[in-house]
Amino acid sequence: MVNFKIADESLASKGDEALYIAENKMPVTAGIIRKRFEEEKPLKGIKIAGCLHVTKETANLALTLQAGGAEVYLCGSNPLSTQDDVAAALIKKGINVFAWHGNTDEEFYWCIRECLKENPNILIDDGADMIVTAHKDFPELIENGTIIACQEETTTGVKRFQAMEKQGKLKVPLFPVNDARCKNQFDNELGTGQGVVAAIYGMHVLFAGKNVIVAGFGHCSSGMALRARGLGANVIVTEVDPIKALQAKFAGYQVMPIADALPIADIILTATGCKHVIAPTKEMFDKLKDGVILGNLGHFDIEIPTKELYEYAKEITPIRSDVEELLMPNGKKVYLLAKGRLANLVLSEGHPAEVMDMSFGLQSLMSEYIVKNKESFKPGMINIPVKIDDQVGFLKLQSMGVKIDTLTEEQYNYIHGFEEGT
Ligand SMILES: NC(=O)c1ccc[n+]([C@@H]2O[C@H](COP(=O)([O-])OP(=O)(O)OC[C@H]3O[C@@H](n4cnc5c(N)ncnc54)[C@H](O)[C@@H]3O)[C@@H](O)[C@H]2O)c1
Repeated sequence: MVNFKIADESLASKGDEALYIAENKMPVTAGIIRKRFEEEKPLKGIKIAGCLHVTKETANLALTLQAGGAEVYLCGSNPLSTQDDVAAALIKKGINVFAWHGNTDEEFYWCIRECLKENPNILIDDGADMIVTAHKDFPELIENGTIIACQEETTTGVKRFQAMEKQGKLKVPLFPVNDARCKNQFDNELGTGQGVVAAIYGMHVLFAGKNVIVAGFGHCSSGMALRARGLGANVIVTEVDPIKALQAKFAGYQVMPIADALPIADIILTATGCKHVIAPTKEMFDKLKDGVILGNLGHFDIEIPTKELYEYAKEITPIRSDVEELLMPNGKKVYLLAKGRLANLVLSEGHPAEVMDMSFGLQSLMSEYIVKNKESFKPGMINIPVKIDDQVGFLKLQSMGVKIDTLTEEQYNYIHGFEEGT
């Protein structure tokens, strides 16, 4: 019996269309790996709970895990990113889903707990909320060995687990899938980069000729800067890391402190994983240019100080779905996307399926790896095996019909040796 709480079951056929489009663009996850999983059933008898953005791409991950024999439970990793049609399609296919667009914080954690109540063996998280909840509210699942190991999908989640480990509070084996090369070099850079364009599309502005401030020059933000420049924007980067700032400078961007950039910014985009990238003060808010668009693509809604902006604004007017016009006390208007939450997921459909194919290919193969090697893990962070990272890379190339060279024995020995020199 499928267990669920979703917005509207009647949206299933619309969801099926979305799933089909994604399936065709995910040849690794929904093609090669799913086919093998159907035959070999490597996840038979395993329960997997995913706290992930419930999108058509995640749906295809869930179906691949199910094809491998797993019982799958899904909840959303952001209150605004669930695609209700996809959730409806999934329950018809036997995936247990507790997610709907626009849930409250309380409902968000209720959905997580519904998944954890099912005694899952593998947790796949995006932002750490499910695994942290397991530690707080379901410690028995960890103590009695029900949870074999966990996977984390995003940078902010990995950072939270690193902090937990440092304080001796991480009690599960944790695979930071985000840190695999096949993940952050593609999903974060290409996905978020292109996502900026999709997120801003509904504002009907041109990037060309605008001053676009990109906060951060990491995986996501450097991709965002590149795409914004490609569309003709004058991109200004703000950073706190001197090396990243130098990289931005040598890539030809202007670099300056955010306080200096605010008065000239037409569009401000954040993806830092940090809090209050714009300081929540009257002085900073008053610097904002009339008509500025504020969009966050980092994991949580604290990069742009949303709560404080709402408190400071004289009037808040929704002008279209998930876009608000904030009238400031000085008469200027500020446009806030997605209530400061992940704008690419809320205002558009998230990363293209083609790039999520690699992230979810990794999650699929890592689930299999966890089951096969379950006796060998200890609590703490464990790197993704390079072999699995490479395998996903090879499968993606194979699906694109791209061939590459292989090292000869002589070449292998040369680059792994020291004797041969001048
Ligand atoms: N929107 C999406 O779909 C999506 C996808 C992947 C990751 N993310 C999220 O995006 C965020 C960034 O991820 P990443 O992989 O790019 O991380 P990253 O560590 O590669 O980059 C973050 C950069 O921000 C800089 N930074 C930190 N605080 C800053 C501040 N106050 N001002 C300016 N710069 C600052 C850091 O020095 C770093 O260079 C995370 O929250 C991650 O979870 C979102």
